[in-house]
Amino acid sequence: MTGFILQNAQIATMTKGGADYGLIEQGAIVVVDGSISWLGSAPDIPQTFSHLPIEDVDGRLITPALIDCHTHIVAGGNRAREFEMRLQGASYEDIARAGGGINATVTATRSASNAALLASALARVDQLIAEGAATIEVKSGYGLDCETELRMLRTARAISKQRNIRIRTSFLGAHAIPADYADRPDAYIDDVCIPTLEVAFREGLVDAVDGFCEGIAFSPAQIRRVFERARSLGLPIKLHAEQLSNLGGAKMAAELGALSVDHLEYLDEEGVIALSNAGTVAVLLPGAFYTLRETQKPPVDLFRQYGVDMALATDCNPGSSPLSSLLLSMNMACTLFRLTPQEALAGVTRNAARALGLAHVGTIETGKSAELALWDVTHPAELAYRMGFNPLTRRIVGSL
Ligand code: NIG
Ligand code: FE
Repeated sequence: MTGFILQNAQIATMTKGGADYGLIEQGAIVVVDGSISWLGSAPDIPQTFSHLPIEDVDGRLITPALIDCHTHIVAGGNRAREFEMRLQGASYEDIARAGGGINATVTATRSASNAALLASALARVDQLIAEGAATIEVKSGYGLDCETELRMLRTARAISKQRNIRIRTSFLGAHAIPADYADRPDAYIDDVCIPTLEVAFREGLVDAVDGFCEGIAFSPAQIRRVFERARSLGLPIKLHAEQLSNLGGAKMAAELGALSVDHLEYLDEEGVIALSNAGTVAVLLPGAFYTLRETQKPPVDLFRQYGVDMALATDCNPGSSPLSSLLLSMNMACTLFRLTPQEALAGVTRNAARALGLAHVGTIETGKSAELALWDVTHPAELAYRMGFNPLTRRIVGSL
């Protein structure tokens, strides 16, 4: 048995029901073979661990390692030109309908080499790792043809061979209607999206299935067909829903047992109740809200009222959210959506783990994987409070 003890720590366990970050002051964590074997007050460390090396962390804060549960981090090119166009008055939807938006990144991704896709993704992944992330979800959805969707998913898997990070993939074939199917979204779903999902699944490339339910993308009925195939393959589902309008996609996904629904600015109370009944996590993406200068806020008070867990993510993508900082996402969620710093930290730890269906990470508890972040701060609220400042001292991810 190999292990170590971290002591003289302030531990934000983030366990459910733990009041105020589940804080343990003057705490110790015993890590054995990559798992948390014990935690509590330093004087109470059991004798059985007395042979393990002890590291004094000088009163620093330890949290669960961070989890980014919604990214499009594998993508070709960038859309800085669209940023300029929006500043001159064009809307995200105008640009998408004129053939830009997601389809512009599809063109760039199809023409990018595998090596270029991996290199550009790793640059962004490294920023998340530098902020203490140990798990990143990565979506496909910029291929929209079988070959490029598979290349994106293989690139996502390749990230975890290059870096000490857990990657969870989501197949997002139903992200946009590609130009060659412009007026035939149903044909795209039947002829490309579902067959590609089947191939990707057989190759072991898919951990979950996602979609974009919106006027500029797919209807609830079209997404439902993809989800029914996902479920028959035994895959969990999640959905981009109610970002620009309310089509009822979140309710449909929740009724099919979705792990999460994401964005949700236009979700109504009926939708919130559907999430609550299904135990579906609401993933908030303040980077997209900020970038698109949205004014409609997600229904945070209703999520609290109905006990819907809120996660937070970067939505890192070249169009609506060119953001690769979870700490800034936390700050934005507090300032723009009025989350508490505690809710923001739960959003990138415990609830992000739930949004990915991961039971062994996201909190600091006996028996869970020892995936930890060590911070040079005196109070956990500091993580959400600062902007553009990274107080991470160290990431501990022995078991990955
Ligand atoms: O999560 N909403 C749809 N998909 C992405 C945007 C992707 C893009 O604009 O390239 C999102 O915001
Ligand atoms: Fe997204």
